[in-house]
Amino acid sequence: MKKFYITTAIDYANGAPHLGHAYEKILTDVIARHRRLKGEPVHFLTGLDEHGQKVQQTARARGIEPIELCDEADVAFRGLCERLSISNDDFIRTTEERHKKVVCSLLQQLYDEGQIYKADYTGYYSTRAEQFLQEKDKVNGEWPSGFGEVVEITESNYFFKLSQYQEWLIGHVQAHDEFIFPRFRQKQVLEFLKEPINDLCISRPRERLSWGIPLPFDEDYVTYVWFDALVNYISAVGYGEERFKECWPVDFHVIGKDILVPPHAVYWPIMLKACGIELPKSLLVHGWWLRSGEKMAKSTGNVVSPLDLIDQFGTDAFRYFVTREMNVGQDSDFSIELFLSRYNSDLANDLGNLVSRTLNMASRYAGSTVPAFAVEEEPEKELRALWKETRGAALECYDGIQFHLALDRIFTFIRGINRYAETRAPWKLAKSEDPEDRARLETALATMAEGVRLAVTLAAPVMPDLETRVRALLGCGETDTWEGELNWSETLVGKTLSAPVILFPRPTSE
Ligand code: MSP
Repeated sequence: MKKFYITTAIDYANGAPHLGHAYEKILTDVIARHRRLKGEPVHFLTGLDEHGQKVQQTARARGIEPIELCDEADVAFRGLCERLSISNDDFIRTTEERHKKVVCSLLQQLYDEGQIYKADYTGYYSTRAEQFLQEKDKVNGEWPSGFGEVVEITESNYFFKLSQYQEWLIGHVQAHDEFIFPRFRQKQVLEFLKEPINDLCISRPRERLSWGIPLPFDEDYVTYVWFDALVNYISAVGYGEERFKECWPVDFHVIGKDILVPPHAVYWPIMLKACGIELPKSLLVHGWWLRSGEKMAKSTGNVVSPLDLIDQFGTDAFRYFVTREMNVGQDSDFSIELFLSRYNSDLANDLGNLVSRTLNMASRYAGSTVPAFAVEEEPEKELRALWKETRGAALECYDGIQFHLALDRIFTFIRGINRYAETRAPWKLAKSEDPEDRARLETALATMAEGVRLAVTLAAPVMPDLETRVRALLGCGETDTWEGELNWSETLVGKTLSAPVILFPRPTSE
């Protein structure tokens, strides 16, 4: 059976992970977990982009070998995945043999078929940045001083016949609305394709850049880093082997908007088409995390370290915040004030308090054993109806990649349980001698516990550790499927609840 195959972009190995990288992994993880809970087999890939100029330069500046820098990044990015509870099935590094082998086989195929040719290239080259510049790099008609001396040079290189596929690609994008999500990004791609595209220079002379995969047909050159990096999506799942069919075509390549055009929407589909490989089903393009309106990036130094926030507030809180705040496809501004406000109001107040009061009251009024539902009056009917509505709407939002709205619905339900508790006021019912009030009290305790179970189970793709923890507090085991788990049920009746805990402690003021 074909698996649901989902990938993230592979991160550059020359910098520390920041909120942008963390977000992309969480977004992809939410989708992967959602699919698994629905019962689909999933393959989730992430990894590192290790070759290229930047890595070579950074390593040189630090007086270490490029591979040492990559090994450090490997520890940092795998560590990040672990801290974020990312459920990836594989982690690929582009320096691995399994990857290099596939890059070489594609290059050789294209070369043998005459789709790669050698030609001279003349352009403006910055020795300081060690790169060719384009007219658009000029500011007010001048090369910015950061580029140092800019000289015109001519260099022999290998080119891939990208341009001959332009019309085909336009047709493909127009005929497949699902190819680019969200839809509004399709326009951007078609806009880009209105201008003639050039053939792609896929090599760099070795004397200029040695940190790369040598071209199989000319050892004096290494492969251009994008041609190398994109191939990770197929090399990791065994391109050329029988098992490739289990994953390919990929269901979603999750990427940021900065790498849609041209790499993922132009180079990649054309590379695949040229090699006779099926195209990705969909590119899922997310926006940026900004700081005061500017893209968060290593180069601007305005980055937020996800690890600091996780140390202070925990993985689930971090995952909740980024998923709740970001409307997939749009940009979102990060501020610690906003983070604290979500943490305090949604997590500590609404959810944390609900869990602790549920456990507290069960311990006080029922010896910590969940009683049976004894009555069904207006408050119970209302809450059950709210659950039904929540479940329907949230599942629809999950399917439509509207995770911020799914969470909005789930937290509306959580507030609904809190309101229910206020209405039922178990602390008052406990004082009454009337047996009907005792039945109401028992029902209220069972209802609150079941409400909590349902809410955390529905939020599991976003807060997996919280789900496991709260279900354990409620005395019900972990679950790896939603099958039968999202129905209002009596599964908790008779279960022993744990003593009250504080799930989201108030941050200590500094
Ligand atoms: N190595 C390339 C991708 C190759 S994929 C075959 C690359 N690396 S990156 O480290 O610069 O970015 C990795 C991912 O993080 C990209 O999808 C990028 O859009 C995303 N983000 C980097 N900064 C970001 C934000 N500030 N906000 C959200 N995501 C952004 O590009």
